[in-house]
Amino acid sequence: MKPVLGAVIAAAAIATAAVGGLTRAQSVAGENSGGQPAGAAGNALSARQAQAAALAKLQAHGEELFNQRCKSCHMPPVEHAPSRSEMAAQFPNVIIDALKTGKMQAMAAGLSDTDIGAVAAWVTGQAPDAKFDLTGEMKNACPTGAKFDPSGPAWNGWSPDKQNTRVAASTTITAANAPKLKVKWAFAYQGGRYGQPTVVGNRVFVTSSSGQVYALDKQTGCVAWAHKARGSVRVTISVGKNPKAASGWAAYFGDMGRNQVAVDANTGQELWVVNIDSGGRGILTGAPALWGDTLYVPLSSFEEGVAGLAAYECCKQRGAVAAIDIATGKIKWKSYSIPTAPAPFKKNASGTQMYGPAGGAIWSSPTIDAKRGVLYVATGDSYTDVEEPYSDAVEAMDLKTGKIKWAHQMTALDHFLVGCPPQRPGVNCPTPNGPDFDFGSSPILKHLKSGKDMLLAGQKSGGVYGLDPEDGKIIWQTRIGQGSALGGVEWGMAADNDNLYVGIADRGMPTLSALRLTDGSLIWRHRAPEPAKCSFEGRCSNGYSGPPSLANGVLYGVNQDGHVRAFQAKTGKMVWDYDTAGRHYETVNGVKNQRGGNLDATGMTFAGPMAFLMAGFNGASGSSGPDNVLLAFSVDGK
Ligand code: HEC
Repeated sequence: MKPVLGAVIAAAAIATAAVGGLTRAQSVAGENSGGQPAGAAGNALSARQAQAAALAKLQAHGEELFNQRCKSCHMPPVEHAPSRSEMAAQFPNVIIDALKTGKMQAMAAGLSDTDIGAVAAWVTGQAPDAKFDLTGEMKNACPTGAKFDPSGPAWNGWSPDKQNTRVAASTTITAANAPKLKVKWAFAYQGGRYGQPTVVGNRVFVTSSSGQVYALDKQTGCVAWAHKARGSVRVTISVGKNPKAASGWAAYFGDMGRNQVAVDANTGQELWVVNIDSGGRGILTGAPALWGDTLYVPLSSFEEGVAGLAAYECCKQRGAVAAIDIATGKIKWKSYSIPTAPAPFKKNASGTQMYGPAGGAIWSSPTIDAKRGVLYVATGDSYTDVEEPYSDAVEAMDLKTGKIKWAHQMTALDHFLVGCPPQRPGVNCPTPNGPDFDFGSSPILKHLKSGKDMLLAGQKSGGVYGLDPEDGKIIWQTRIGQGSALGGVEWGMAADNDNLYVGIADRGMPTLSALRLTDGSLIWRHRAPEPAKCSFEGRCSNGYSGPPSLANGVLYGVNQDGHVRAFQAKTGKMVWDYDTAGRHYETVNGVKNQRGGNLDATGMTFAGPMAFLMAGFNGASGSSGPDNVLLAFSVDGK
């Protein structure tokens, strides 16, 4: 599994010195492969030794800081926090980002850049600037002249349809041949994978938290283009016609710096970029939804991490949707999930003015209802003690104006920040804190056999709802999980004409269930087996946190334990179980021993004879670090 730290440290020093761009395993191998002229070897060795000594010193400092500031929450038994060994699987920049701009800022208060680098070096066992960058290693560029051809079966965006049912539009993979699915090609790259593979015509489009965005050939995995975004990218790409693109087609994605970008789908060349929320603590996480000449971009946020920032005016970030003209990139309207602007309401214990309401992040892709002229979004929790009826809610917004037509809040007063343990809450902590019951997944719109429409939504509370799309009234509700900050319904659900399929990420009782669309009654339930081996000390995640997908009456559930499991949708009978984590892959871009990993946040996508899956997920809920790989499946690997 993970290399021991000592070996990694030695390898990392070399990696930074000369062979940046290789995996850690390769760096270790490289150390023994020699190949240098005899005279130079001695010098190189002492330079390496000096580097290793400097790193060891830095790490000793980092260990001290870690023990003072991080150990209490990050050593087993851990509650919501990733354990140190899980964090060790990350590259240092992930730790540095968390401390400088992410959720852990408060824990790094008063630390210098060197201190932060030292903590990252200790946690990961690598030099603070160690990187895994395959772009320099890209030996599998597609032949010149290869062109984007949009025709053929597609899985475009979060779901092939605008209703977010996650049913494959056209695939030859069925219950009969699913057991024969084999990896046709694998592609390795850096960073966390939240972006689901989008398949349009002859290409697969993928994003990465490293900021690299790729268009790959669907058949071979060769790289048609790679685009370096301005920031980390975790959204799923949407592709559509665009009058300004030379090829007539654009690919749309947004980054963590709130830049929404359009590139030519053929070349990756940028057509326009627009920042939809400058200056705040917003991030883009949900796939943009395309409808007509408009792109609907959901705005999420990481303001939840400011609990301990004494001088921070907590909190001002609200979720929103921006409607953007696809030709020009101009924002037509921007509508906040919480319409009331944050205003001063009290001072924190350090005397800093506090603001509210805030929160209502929109984590997932909007759902389009052309008939009613609205889109639906589901929102996250609130960040301050100011009461409002729009967090943890399902909302309908007018497609033309963004005006909220209705909002239905499922959990009131869910004011939550990360870093508010009862015994030592940060200065900005709400009282009480939590329960952190966001909606993270997209609502699903279904036309029922009765002729009526229904909107379906799932929450981190484990609550699942059937709503009337006219006014948001609850038609049925059921609670199929206990729920928690990292439990309940995390990233998604799928629906066919009979059932709603729901993954539950609860520790202790992770399940995948089929509920009757019309009344929410349970049709079947599968409970995830205990993980065969625990990848990380202190915890073994096996939640169905990622979104299930449907293809020809087969449900594909993705589990944090690295397994994708396929079930007959009607009966729940399992027809295929594939462990992405228990294997190593030789990838088409030259990495010999790429390991698979957890499945989370995104699901399996299908188009024609092929299916695609991101193995590996860089997040708190059971991360597998950089050991990530895009897998392309086909029957018998043909
Ligand atoms: C008071 C408890 C606490 C302390 C102290 C703490 N953390 Fe955390 N940390 C958490 C929790 C809880 C999470 C999970 C947050 C989530 O996913 O919402 C977390 C998440 C993280 C993550 C993942 C961030 C992400 O974006 O997923 C990193 C990296 C991290 N912590 C590093 C550190 C380091 C380094 C320190 C010490 C300088 C530290 N933490 C101190 C509780 C703590």
